Amino acid sequence: MGSITDTDTIHKKRTYHTTGSAYSLPNDNVEHQRLEIQHALFIGLMGGRIIHAPLTPAVSKAIDIGCGTGSVTHAIASAHPSTTVYGIDLSAVPARMRTKLPNLSYIQGDFNELASQENPDPRFTPKSFDYAFSRMLIYGITNWQAYVDRAVSLVKPGGWIEMQEADYHWYRVPRSESELPPSETFASHDLSMKELQARSHLSEAYLCESQWQHTMSSLLRAKSLNPHAGSALASHMAAAGLTDIRIRRYISPSGVWPGLTREAAAFGNYVGKQTPLMYVPTIRKLGEETGWDSGVVEEAVQYLEKEFEGEDAEEYRLWFWVYVVCGRKPE
Ligand SMILES: C[S@@+](CC[C@H](N)C(=O)[O-])C[C@H]1O[C@@H](n2cnc3c(N)ncnc32)[C@H](O)[C@@H]1O
Repeated sequence: MGSITDTDTIHKKRTYHTTGSAYSLPNDNVEHQRLEIQHALFIGLMGGRIIHAPLTPAVSKAIDIGCGTGSVTHAIASAHPSTTVYGIDLSAVPARMRTKLPNLSYIQGDFNELASQENPDPRFTPKSFDYAFSRMLIYGITNWQAYVDRAVSLVKPGGWIEMQEADYHWYRVPRSESELPPSETFASHDLSMKELQARSHLSEAYLCESQWQHTMSSLLRAKSLNPHAGSALASHMAAAGLTDIRIRRYISPSGVWPGLTREAAAFGNYVGKQTPLMYVPTIRKLGEETGWDSGVVEEAVQYLEKEFEGEDAEEYRLWFWVYVVCGRKPE
């Protein structure tokens, strides 16, 4: 596991997009590898599937917004060879990572500009898509309602929107084996809108925000990002007029503990090791961008390092939920 010095060195060599977007994660090879591994782990976690919306073979045009390395874009295009598929990203999608498909095009740019109401790119005219997908834009979207509205405006009546987002409400598994939560506490599950709003699921008893998590969420808010984007998706979709809203959530563990499925344990093992490597530079970058007191930022970094690299490091057992929310545009 990297020490604070390693993460410092890595941070200095990283590259980022150069647009005016709020997005603050890197866009280099290291990040591409992380996204690829995360994609494979997500497929395991989600029972072998990526897409949850009930798409029919008749889908003629689909879009993956913030497509990263194009992992999902490529999967949609190869599963639907007669569908025209676009992947949009602020940064160039790495070439030669996958075979080129004739029905798939990547476009570099900011979705907010390419699909603006006033002057949309001709490929993104309103009501021209059957399906709009996005995953893990939590570090890039500063106005979720406007973003969902924009995605909805692209879709034809009867078409589907699917968004998959993290939600930084953190949960902690007690260290004592006798206090281990029953496994249904962290099993993936469907939720109704009412259940989502009531926050009465078993897992709520384990909600616990540590100092570094609190600082990270505050830093995201200071940039107008929403650390709780995942749990807000369904209400944004409802406000955008979508019907048949389906909500499912999956565990995103950092660490491994008894009761996790094999796939969730594989996820937790990888993410546990990645957590300091990813969040330490991110907290520092968010701190610089928002002009926060560096003492407060470094205190959060120290808490994080202690949790993942200190004497008790093997004990970390944290999770948050990743929400998968689909909605249909009324006919
Ligand atoms: C964490 S990555 C996730 C990539 C991919 N969706 C996945 O799940 O593997 C977020 C991606 O969204 C892109 N992004 C963020 N804001 C964007 C925007 N406004 N327009 C286009 N792309 C954006 C970033 O450049 C980055 O590649």
